[in-house]
Amino acid sequence: MKKIRKVGVLGGGLMGSGIAQVSAAAGFPTTVREVSEALGEKSRLAIEKSLAKGIERGKVTEAERSTTLGNLRFVTDLKELADSDLFIEAVVEDLDVKNSLWSQLDQIARPDAIFASNTSSLTIIAMATASGRPDRMLGIHFFNPVPLMKLVEVVRTITTSEETEQRALDFVRALGKEPIRAKDSSGFVVNLLLIPYMIDAIKALESNVASVEDIDKGMQLGAGHPMGPFTLLDFVGLDTVYKIAEIMFTEYRESRYAPPPLLRRMVLAGMLGRKSGKGFYDYSFNPPRVSSLGL
Ligand code: CAA
Ligand code: NAD
Repeated sequence: MKKIRKVGVLGGGLMGSGIAQVSAAAGFPTTVREVSEALGEKSRLAIEKSLAKGIERGKVTEAERSTTLGNLRFVTDLKELADSDLFIEAVVEDLDVKNSLWSQLDQIARPDAIFASNTSSLTIIAMATASGRPDRMLGIHFFNPVPLMKLVEVVRTITTSEETEQRALDFVRALGKEPIRAKDSSGFVVNLLLIPYMIDAIKALESNVASVEDIDKGMQLGAGHPMGPFTLLDFVGLDTVYKIAEIMFTEYRESRYAPPPLLRRMVLAGMLGRKSGKGFYDYSFNPPRVSSLGL
């Protein structure tokens, strides 16, 4: 079985940066493709910041930092990823955008290269045709923040070969992560349960059950969650949660996945959470303050 040596990451946003960081830290020469040089630079800075925090916490050594940075390259031209053994896609949650990338990559990637999507809610089989390699296409789904979260879902479709799944499982373990196998159904394991929970929190707020802070405090102190649902929504990104909810609702036609009106209004207002500086909380304050939502 061919070993994975070089990794190409598509998208250097929240997830792409984290995935590239852990891949480079594990010793894989990793190339990140962003759509502009400015976004590539933003991705590099995010990784440097995470490494600096890791050093501050005593979790990352200076040697690990230089290995990680030394294994990273940021490019805008897809062709520079041509010699990758594994491509991990972490661009916006939009099937057309992802499929357009897969068909371009199929023209330049080696025939034995594996294509993996980090999608949160799309089915992997919906990308298999565009990939031109249905037996070497699968899901490798990481969790945010990638350097800290142990879990990775490995998703095999009805066409993925056993060898592809095994190579992906070996790669995930080489990153020091814990894989679980999941069926190729929208939301896999974690989002199937987590998305309705986040949607329910927004519905509870819309119906005035309690304030943002008290709902967050309730789930932190009453259920032992590391963050309350609104802190988590801001952390994941409200645009991403909105897209995930729409996709899961279209797939299952169950109201538990339907994005609530408040979520849509916030996305339309550009309140995307931490990444835009404002969501359920306003991050221009330290500590962040609850945003005014006109409820
Ligand atoms: N590098 C390395 N280690 C770091 C670090 C860094 N940059 N920053 C912190 N750490 C370490 C800390 O030293 C600490 O280690 P110990 O436990 O050994 O002391 C640990 O990581 C936790 O760090 P903090 O104390 O700073 O942070 P915290 O306790 O507040 O936890 C958190 C932070 C891990 C993010 C926690 O709040 C959490 O688990 N939140 C929930 C995240 C979650 O649910 N993610 C999933 C989102 S959904 C998704 O991803 C799927 C999707 O498709 C949408
Ligand atoms: P993000 O908004 O931080 O980054 C989006 C990325 O998509 C950027 O790199 C951007 O340049 C790229 N992009 C946007 N339009 C593009 C286009 N037309 N062509 C090529 N690239 C384009 O998003 P994210 O949170 O990193 O999410 C990326 C993927 O990971 C999504 O599929 C999402 O569902 C999934 N995911 C997100 C989380 C999370 O907590 N945010 C967790 C797991 C999986």
